[in-house]
Amino acid sequence: MRLLILVAALALGGCFYDNTSPLPADFGSCAAPEPEGVAPAAPTYWRDLKPIVDAHCAGCHIQGGVAPFPLTTYRELYEYRSKSAAMVETRAMPPWQPAACCGHYRGDRSLTADQVATFVAWYDAGALEGDPADATPSEPPVPEALPRVDVEVRMAQAFTPEPRVGKDELRCFLLPQTFATATYITGTNVIPSNHSIAHHAVLFAVPADKIAELKARDGADGRPGWDCYSSTDELDARGAVGGWQPGDGPQLLPDGVGVEVKAGSQLVLNMHYDTGAGTGSDQTTVQLMTSPSVARVSRGVAIMNPLWFAGDGMEIRADDPDATVFFAYDPTPLFSKGQPFTVERVMLHMHELGTIGRLAVLHPDGTSDCLLNITDWNFHWMTTYTLAAPVAIQPGDKLYLECHWDNTAGNQKTVDGNRQAPRTIGWGADEEMCAAVVSYSEAL
Ligand code: HEC
Repeated sequence: MRLLILVAALALGGCFYDNTSPLPADFGSCAAPEPEGVAPAAPTYWRDLKPIVDAHCAGCHIQGGVAPFPLTTYRELYEYRSKSAAMVETRAMPPWQPAACCGHYRGDRSLTADQVATFVAWYDAGALEGDPADATPSEPPVPEALPRVDVEVRMAQAFTPEPRVGKDELRCFLLPQTFATATYITGTNVIPSNHSIAHHAVLFAVPADKIAELKARDGADGRPGWDCYSSTDELDARGAVGGWQPGDGPQLLPDGVGVEVKAGSQLVLNMHYDTGAGTGSDQTTVQLMTSPSVARVSRGVAIMNPLWFAGDGMEIRADDPDATVFFAYDPTPLFSKGQPFTVERVMLHMHELGTIGRLAVLHPDGTSDCLLNITDWNFHWMTTYTLAAPVAIQPGDKLYLECHWDNTAGNQKTVDGNRQAPRTIGWGADEEMCAAVVSYSEAL
């Protein structure tokens, strides 16, 4: 991928931190500790719980939503009251990974301390229904979805990945969708049909002159699509128009911003299947929101140390409880012709052993801006975050990435019901990764 080679060249001017993070000790910490939550006296479902559950749970816990059961009525919530209160108290639900006091993001699902206290007090006091006449008015819950779907397209056939020793299957599929005219993608929703094997997906718009070559490869080995494990060169990283990770729902770009798709392009879906995690076939659906024109076009900046995937410098030793890597570089000479730019969205990628992930802008005077601080990494809830207040990067600033892993016996993947033994690993689709992408936009 051209982008990666460019990043590799740039890394020579990047900064490598062996063991001490250059982040200030108070990075991401709150100015003042969050006050204890306060619950109303004798909370009831109708008066106190329903508004919280409708707004923070039912987008997923609804018929047709991604969660396994609905939480849209008193009866439904009552049935799951004990687990729900426990998950709310530990902040495992609603799923929201960024730690407090780093940045603010659009679509923040997290609950306030008062909401958590209310949920727990309601459960402790017997999970009472109360009187519907006391109901606090709230918007009826709707499943998380794009506001509008302009393109909906599905893999032409279901695909059953084949387990290979120690390797996942990465497979590319031409989707039956070409764009006759230049188009801008303003929202994406990638919906795998089999979450047990779908590990992640990248959606590409491949330009017209490359399609014949891909068509020749499609199905040539007797199975739908083609092997993408080692040959993704034709899918230039800059052609990525969207993707999916286990925590993703619908992804909306900031207002007025779109990802450019050239006339004649066709969609290609690169699916990464984890054959150790599940079985069966998958037939992923892609929904897009598009626009013929936008005010600003989105650009992506990759952050990772090229030496990590060149097979050096990212050793995660067996039994290490806190293997850590850092990387920082000034992205402006390569990505923005030396001009300042403003980070709008951030995404950080590790696999199952990850524990802490941090993304920041380091200024030459030693201060920093927090872009993302995840202190309790959960691979299944990885997603792209849109900053409520975009963060400016000036030439001379550095984008900083930090990843931690727990490679002890207690934190290993379970494959076919067996907990794996820790092994020393590095960068790999079925090992670990530490990578981030920040997105900004440019006026057209
Ligand atoms: C973004 C989607 C989403 C939101 C929002 C969400 N959930 Fe969930 N929830 C899920 C999914 C998916 C699962 C099943 C997978 C899992 O356990 O991670 C789940 C599982 C659960 C479980 C079962 C856990 C278990 O171990 O069996 C409970 C209880 C739960 N959610 C309660 C809630 C409550 C209460 C809220 C709101 C305060 C909420 N959820 C918000 C998606 C969501």
